[in-house]
Amino acid sequence: MIRWKRRLAIIAMIGVGSLHGHAEQPSESGLRELVLQDCGSCHGMTLKGGLGPALRPSDLENRSVEAVAAIIRSGVPETAMPPWKDLLSDGEIRWISEALKSGSLVNNDDSR
Ligand code: HEC
Repeated sequence: MIRWKRRLAIIAMIGVGSLHGHAEQPSESGLRELVLQDCGSCHGMTLKGGLGPALRPSDLENRSVEAVAAIIRSGVPETAMPPWKDLLSDGEIRWISEALKSGSLVNNDDSR
């Protein structure tokens, strides 16, 4: 958790950036970076899991985009998964959920 402060700074920067854009159009490169760096610090840089579970499309196939978004928004109580609703807009959370479900963030064929 030592790197947490720096992470929050990155998130804050992305947050400020999104104020200038449209709420419906979060900065995709910024969000991609956030997911791989921040979510990746627990879920693995290629989202194959670490402290937190893997987040590849096959891992999330039993959850809807809305269910994934709800987890990101509120976190999972009693676990290391934090709530993100104060740091990310609903539009950003939705974008991340769709990106995780579609696998567009990482190129994870299971051979690597
Ligand atoms: C500090 C560590 C940590 C960070 C940072 C983190 N997570 Fe998690 N996440 C977890 C843990 C641990 C779980 C498992 C909770 C449980 O036991 O149900 C989890 C669960 C999840 C789940 C549910 C997975 C499933 O199949 O049940 C999703 C989706 C998720 N995280 C997305 C994210 C996203 C997106 C981010 C970044 C915005 C993120 N997480 C950042 C630790 C983290």
